[in-house]
Amino acid sequence: MNTELLPIHTSDRFDEAVDRAADLLRQGEVVALPTETVYGLAADATNPDAVQAIYRVKGRPITNPLIVHIADSSMLKRCVAEWPEDAERFARSFWPGPLTLVLPKTKEIPDAVTAGLPSVAVRWPAHPLMQAVIRALGRPIAAPSANLANRLSPTFAEHVSAQLTGRIPLIVDGGPANVGIESTVLDLCESPPTVLRPGMIHLESLRSVVPETIPASQSAESSSSDAAKPPKGQKSPGLHHKHYSPTSPMNLMRWADMEDLEQMIRRKDVVPERTCVLCHDQLPDPSRFLRVSVIPHDPEAFARALFAELFVCDRLNPDLIVVETVPSTHTWDGIRNRLERAAMD
Ligand code: TXA
Ligand code: MG
Repeated sequence: MNTELLPIHTSDRFDEAVDRAADLLRQGEVVALPTETVYGLAADATNPDAVQAIYRVKGRPITNPLIVHIADSSMLKRCVAEWPEDAERFARSFWPGPLTLVLPKTKEIPDAVTAGLPSVAVRWPAHPLMQAVIRALGRPIAAPSANLANRLSPTFAEHVSAQLTGRIPLIVDGGPANVGIESTVLDLCESPPTVLRPGMIHLESLRSVVPETIPASQSAESSSSDAAKPPKGQKSPGLHHKHYSPTSPMNLMRWADMEDLEQMIRRKDVVPERTCVLCHDQLPDPSRFLRVSVIPHDPEAFARALFAELFVCDRLNPDLIVVETVPSTHTWDGIRNRLERAAMD
């Protein structure tokens, strides 16, 4: 299959890309579109065959449900069967933006989207291209991140083309993703609201809207005495599994100085010359390593740069990628979650 790559840097190009994407989606095709979090692999959410094609293209297990993207409140009503007060509060505070709300689904959302669950994950994205395509199609769009299953999520069109060229007819290049990691997923099917996947809208921001909001791990612990019910933290399938990984082995480390870092690397039977280091605080001498990437010590800037840096490192085919441990405060929760899952064996 020939994969077209369309830019959107002028208003004419933007309109052309919107028309082309909406046409293909109407025909039941799967296309890659930019969002503010990461690039998405999009299909018409109301077309079960098109949705199934997403799973095929990604190699994603059919047990892992997709996020449905909307761009106005009438479309929202077609997706969710209930809209509690908490949902209204979160939507007012964070939509359009990187927050996904899980709510009971309507019949219009096919089982293929939700992997058979009675709930649906919905998000109103902030990216103008994604919004324009949803409006042009006039239907909600199902889209997971536009990567092959278990690989790095794409924050540049180039990351998408490296993984999906030949598998889809169109990639729209919207430039670098502004947020850089996937949306926060929040379960509103039961009270209190529960974070299923941390993201850049972190627990403190969510609690400023609904103070009772709890993190996934806490709910998993608190419900562990209730044997009949699965822990809530496992409700988002795939949440605790290895994910988002570069193809090279990756480790999280904290070091006092260069010598300390080199020793830790050698203990893994790897030499520093074959190691890429991503750091934000303790910066080692770049001449000793295959590559040293310095990422700003600020969660927003770090999230924006993370996947692109990992992508560049991965291309060098190192024996090891070392990422400096990030702070344990809530503002870093989403980043820490991605790093820990990428570093799993
Ligand atoms: O930022 C994002 O969320 C990006 C962009 C493209 O919007 N999308 C994304 O999709 O990250 P994906 O498929 O990679 O992640 C969807 C997450 C998964 O953790 C999935 O288990 C969860 O949302 N999810 C989807 N539907 C759910 C449901 N009904 N109940 C619980 N979790 C759900
Ligand atoms: Mg993903």
